[in-house]
Amino acid sequence: MPFEPDSNASAAPLTQPNPSATARPRLSVIGTGYLGATHAVCMVELGYEVIGLDVDEAKIKALCAGQIPFFEPGLPELLAKHIDSGKLRFTTDFAEVAAFADIHFVCVGTPQQKGQYAADMTYVRSAFESLAPHLNRRALVVGKSTVPAGTAEQMATILAELAPNKEVELAWNPEFLREGFAVADTLAPDRLVFGVRSEWAEQTIRSAFEPVIATGTPVIVTDFATAELVKVAANSFLATKISFINAMAEVCEATGADVIQLADAIGHDARIGRRFLNAGLGFGGGCLPKDIRAFIARAGELGVDQAVSFLRDVDEINLRRRARVVELGLELVDGSYAGTKVAVLGAAFKPNSDDIRDSPALDVAAAVGRRGARVQVFDPQANANARRVHPELSYADSLDEVIDGVDLIMLLTEWQEFRSMDPETVGQRVARRNLVDGRNVLDPIQWRSSGWVYRALGRP
Ligand code: UDX
Repeated sequence: MPFEPDSNASAAPLTQPNPSATARPRLSVIGTGYLGATHAVCMVELGYEVIGLDVDEAKIKALCAGQIPFFEPGLPELLAKHIDSGKLRFTTDFAEVAAFADIHFVCVGTPQQKGQYAADMTYVRSAFESLAPHLNRRALVVGKSTVPAGTAEQMATILAELAPNKEVELAWNPEFLREGFAVADTLAPDRLVFGVRSEWAEQTIRSAFEPVIATGTPVIVTDFATAELVKVAANSFLATKISFINAMAEVCEATGADVIQLADAIGHDARIGRRFLNAGLGFGGGCLPKDIRAFIARAGELGVDQAVSFLRDVDEINLRRRARVVELGLELVDGSYAGTKVAVLGAAFKPNSDDIRDSPALDVAAAVGRRGARVQVFDPQANANARRVHPELSYADSLDEVIDGVDLIMLLTEWQEFRSMDPETVGQRVARRNLVDGRNVLDPIQWRSSGWVYRALGRP
């Protein structure tokens, strides 16, 4: 019998026991990238039956074989736990997905368009257009992808036009997970946002998150436009916070002040808060940079470009950090990189990830290489991805190997292995004790007292 949500569910106290697994809706997850694969696996962990779909056969093959095609701590173990249980399977067939699931989560990517600020909506549109014609029974389709405001409206029209069942509805449910913490963020999010247009849609999406809601997670029920905007607004705020402290780092360098102490001091004000005030090489990844650019583009289309014009500065401050790190390194190699040997520690856009999309570390490595240095990169997880995009750089398999005989070390992604380096041990392997700490994670006093010339952003 098809699943029907309990219409009294909203009146139920949050402490009520979970309904039995058989009463739960069956879920599909369309798109098995970082977001989708994590969502699919975690929903099974929460007690749902899930089918995952991707148009990329290689990805589906890997997932069926129990392999996560990217690095995310904790996720391979959960996939292994559930793949044999029969509660999680993967396919490339939209008809199979439509027949199986009561609720469909669309988790495909919205990358930045080549040469433009706007997001590429091809995958979202294609997911809806491929799924809709198979929806013969009542179902809820939930958009999770990060999209420009107004997309949900368009997707609702696609469903209305293409789905044979005229009771198919749309909901929008932005996702806030961070890479490296994706499992914890999905199992225990700090809030749930549901953009809906009917009581049925609200109850149905609530039924997909019942175990999460039961733990007291705040739920915000709203319209499509607000749900879409929550995500871009949150990422814009986070990006602004990082660029604010990086702008202060520039001022600190001009005045001799210390941006770390400045951040500590202002961070004690609870209205400001210390989190996301780490000055350094700035933000990268598949979300913050492209989301603020897509927001600028969409605001222009909506005629409110002035409202978010500050995001252009946020982007520029962020990109300036990369140029500044290249300059700091140059000062340490006496004004010319030509013929020098440089070790770059880190290639991923942040630690605990193998994601190199818009990675500040790789940008700097490539720039230093272009200026004539022999650059060798080491990242505990991202070497393979980095090599594909920057085959011109060379790669080492360990920290010991990458620092061997170098004139300069540039710490650009703050993996724990790099944070806990010992200045004496490292000093014995290098040719010259020069260090740029692009993430402000080492102790300058300790390194300087071991004879290192230590430079960092925003610190004397
Ligand atoms: C981000 C948002 O945090 C998440 O909520 C959203 O769903 C997706 O985008 P993510 O891209 O995984 O998540 O990375 P995040 O941890 O936010 O870091 C983004 C970048 O900012 C990294 O490059 C990181 O090094 C940098 N950063 C972060 C700083 O430079 N300083 C800080 O204080 C914090």
